[in-house]
Amino acid sequence: MSTGGSLPKASVICAAVLLLGIFVLYHYQSGGCPKLYTVLTGHVAGTAKSNTGDEVTRGDRISESNTGDEVTRGDRISESNTGDEVTRGDRISESNTGDEVTRGDRISESKTRRHSSHRNRLSGSPGKLQRLPRALIIAFSKCGTSTLRSFLTLHPDVVAAPREVRFFNVHFSEGVDWYRRQMPYSSPGQITIEKTPGYIKSIDTLQRIHTFDPDIKLIAIVRNPMTRLQSSYAHRAARHKRYARMGFLKWLSSGAELEKRVKHGSDFVSKIQMVYRVFPEDQLLVLNEEALESDPVTLLNQVYSFLGLNSSISNDVLVFDERKGFYCVNKTHPIFPSLRGLVNKSDGCMRAGKGRKHSEVGGALLQEIVDISRPYVNKLFDVIRTKFNWTYF
Ligand SMILES: *[C@@H]1O[C@H](CO)[C@@H](O)[C@H](O)[C@H]1NC(C)=O
Ligand SMILES: *[C@@H]1O[C@H](CO)[C@@H](O)[C@H](O)[C@H]1NC(C)=O
Ligand SMILES: *[C@@H]1O[C@H](CO)[C@@H](O)[C@H](O)[C@H]1NC(C)=O
Ligand SMILES: *[C@@H]1O[C@H](CO)[C@@H](O)[C@H](O)[C@H]1NC(C)=O
Repeated sequence: MSTGGSLPKASVICAAVLLLGIFVLYHYQSGGCPKLYTVLTGHVAGTAKSNTGDEVTRGDRISESNTGDEVTRGDRISESNTGDEVTRGDRISESNTGDEVTRGDRISESKTRRHSSHRNRLSGSPGKLQRLPRALIIAFSKCGTSTLRSFLTLHPDVVAAPREVRFFNVHFSEGVDWYRRQMPYSSPGQITIEKTPGYIKSIDTLQRIHTFDPDIKLIAIVRNPMTRLQSSYAHRAARHKRYARMGFLKWLSSGAELEKRVKHGSDFVSKIQMVYRVFPEDQLLVLNEEALESDPVTLLNQVYSFLGLNSSISNDVLVFDERKGFYCVNKTHPIFPSLRGLVNKSDGCMRAGKGRKHSEVGGALLQEIVDISRPYVNKLFDVIRTKFNWTYF
């Protein structure tokens, strides 16, 4: 080797460059790492259901998007090679994989149809794309929004962003393409939903949502203020020893905060009226958390109908867990294996922390809380023209 002149040296470099080129070409055409990752993690295209749950880890999301990436990237390369995508030719960039900026769903659906045979050849997963939400759970914190989101994905036509994206209230400057990239992969017939309880808190946020999509469906879930206070406390106590040591009653009655705390926990109605100032009333569905606990299937089917979905889910999908005191997914139901990541695999229930024990309250303090809450509750029932069967109210 060392005795070689400049000519052999040059040919070694040439050969190396050539090999590298071939490797790079092969790597991209075969899907490269994504495919390997898919094999290693056992994720196959078409298991997007697992992407909808609460417990989806970053690893899950990466492998999911890799699975999808394999398709889009393959598409993009072959499109620019064959030139059958002339109109989008000058837009080959990251945003190209996420289709056009607004109203992307319809556009991407037609794109999907055009290329479905191609996609099928590549991955066997036709039309899986990240799509913008068509419905939002916008309220209220500590009222079962996580459970509602997870249970809604029991319907095969509903997928949900696994986390609170907080796009319209916090990350709006990131842009709609960023928002889309937070969404799970879905098929053309599926509805994507997203849940961020903070969306109802300001009129600016609601107006942004309206500008984004004036026809978007909105869902709010409300709860007996007393139970909500107990849940608020249980949530805090589970996180901070300070609150756990304090106890519910002490937390409630610590100084002049009681009235503020109770009002804050009871005043659903002013936020709901704010929604009505921006959206037609029939675009907001107001649900009762107690119904989600006591008769979830009926409530879910009410939501599916609100979302414009034809079919419903049957009663045997959820079963009442006597020990825990709430509904869990039926482990022997055929749908159960597809819910990986949505619920605890061993018992079909929501992850630990949901359904925490609530501290009791009684006597004069109870009466004081009820007195502060009652005007808000009565006004709520007036405004939504529905009366929920809430203890004390
Ligand atoms: C819903 O059902 C009606 C009548 O059964 C049918 O025409 C329509 O296509 C269905 N829509 C969807 C989205 O499946
Ligand atoms: C659970 O699902 C199985 C299979 O569909 C069904 O036979 C069974 O009755 C369900 N259990 C309940 C309690 O509904
Ligand atoms: C899942 O359920 C089992 C059985 O009820 C329980 O022992 C375990 O702690 C649960 N895991 C989580 C993460 O909640
Ligand atoms: C209202 O709730 C109470 C206690 O939760 C229950 O006993 C009662 O039957 C309910 N009433 C109606 C009309 O649902």
